[in-house]
Amino acid sequence: MEFNSITAAEAAALVKNGQTIGLSGFTPAGTAKCTTAEIAKMAEAEHAAGRPFKVSLLTGASTGQSTDGALSNAHAIDFRTPYTTNADFRKHVNANEVNYSDLNLSGVATQIRQGYLGQVHWAIIEACAIEKVGSKAHIYLTAAGGISPTICRMATEGIIIELNAFHCPKSKGLHDVYEIEDHPFRKPVSILKANDRIGKPYIEVDASRIVGVIECNVPDEARSFKDADPITNQIGQNVADFLLDNMRRGLIPPTFLNLQSGVGSGANAVLGALGKCAEVPNFNIYTEVLQDAPVQLIRDGRVLSASSCSLTVTNECLRGIYDDIDFFADKLVLRPSEISNNPEVISRIGVCSLNTAIEVDIYGHVNSTKICGTKMMNGIGGSADFTDNAYLSIFTCGSTTKGGSISSIVPFASHIDHTNHFVDAVITEYGVADLRRKSDLQKAVELIKVAHPDYRPLLQDYLAMASKRGGHTPHVLSAAFAMHDTLQRKGDMRLTDWAEYVK
Ligand code: COA
Repeated sequence: MEFNSITAAEAAALVKNGQTIGLSGFTPAGTAKCTTAEIAKMAEAEHAAGRPFKVSLLTGASTGQSTDGALSNAHAIDFRTPYTTNADFRKHVNANEVNYSDLNLSGVATQIRQGYLGQVHWAIIEACAIEKVGSKAHIYLTAAGGISPTICRMATEGIIIELNAFHCPKSKGLHDVYEIEDHPFRKPVSILKANDRIGKPYIEVDASRIVGVIECNVPDEARSFKDADPITNQIGQNVADFLLDNMRRGLIPPTFLNLQSGVGSGANAVLGALGKCAEVPNFNIYTEVLQDAPVQLIRDGRVLSASSCSLTVTNECLRGIYDDIDFFADKLVLRPSEISNNPEVISRIGVCSLNTAIEVDIYGHVNSTKICGTKMMNGIGGSADFTDNAYLSIFTCGSTTKGGSISSIVPFASHIDHTNHFVDAVITEYGVADLRRKSDLQKAVELIKVAHPDYRPLLQDYLAMASKRGGHTPHVLSAAFAMHDTLQRKGDMRLTDWAEYVK
């Protein structure tokens, strides 16, 4: 090999207490995995010897068990941003053992450049190929773009490459690597349609900055999603009907919109259902995570082209893409997160955003991150990047969760990530609350209609009580969180008794 071959343990030993690591990947897809697992072991050994050892982590989005899981279990993370889905990491965050900062994904690379996130010492990058071209190295990424170009350029100590044979070198052509200029010299990002390519298929760095290359063969730590069920299928059908109705009424172009779909089982099922609906025209996708359902839609010809930051798919699906790379080459493009989630591109090309809410309040404010307003679930991800700039922004959720004991429609969202200014429609299995051209009170009427029938009377009673007090957004402040409080005290929001709360 033309580069210095090292082991993951040797790479880990380069990293010192207090340093900051930037990681490739976006979701567990494309995330460097070998070095972080060794850093976790090293941290445990240091702690056992009575010495402190913590690093800070900058990532594209969530990672997998060998990164967020192993490092948080080893108490080896000082600061970390942005999005994460790892259950172990979540436990440590909610115990406040980790300084976790939730950021919009489109802004992470920019904040690194601005120096807001401190010095980046190491870039640890998963690659499917690395080539020496004169004094330069060309790094070909695997299943995600993430923040890799920026951290490769900015890492002060150097770049560690995990050359992962699991990712077929044929996947080399999937990426379009383009980095935005620094302010005030930024140029428009000239993407006019989802599969336009404006950059190079590799990251170019000075070869001397590659400190070592670890050869490995490790599958992505992909999550598999829950199968579609009658509720997610009904939500998918409701989304499809809503979009068709908008098209017939001329509210969206006859050529349809580019679709973005959020992360998780619900989002995967919604896209699957949309694809099956014959009346929905073939469409393009401009999104940050591509899951299994849309990959199948590309094969079926329902999705014409897709731009994403990552292939967050099962390993079986990923293998299938690599096996058929010639078919996917002109239909699928992977980008750095600041481009896949670029607000200007999203607002210009016309995107319908489909994201999942944890809860929505009767006035249309959305909580997509905090359970009962306090416990971090995953983070905001790219949901605001897309929602705030969408042509049509939709949130979906099942009307209840946890066996019906929790309503997703509540009087006051216990945490708000997306204010109602950015939310056009909320869709549950009971229908569509179209919030456009409505006052807050009119929005409340629509939203209560799509709540679960068990909760409609409770919500109607709340609205009636609140309305008597007046205001544009009427509330009874002492009762606004009564349903959440009842859940915590009695285990079921249906047991809410307004009389206990109304003063
Ligand atoms: N109160 C308590 N728990 C709730 C809840 C609520 N109001 N709403 C959902 N949950 C729980 C579910 O019960 C489920 O728990 P389980 O894992 O123990 O079964 C869990 O949250 C996940 O919910 P699920 O219904 O399976 O949805 P999902 O997998 O589609 O994920 C989000 C939903 C909101 C967590 C997920 O979409 C997310 O992280 N969104 C924020 C980021 C984002 O939107 N990115 C989009 C751009 S890709």
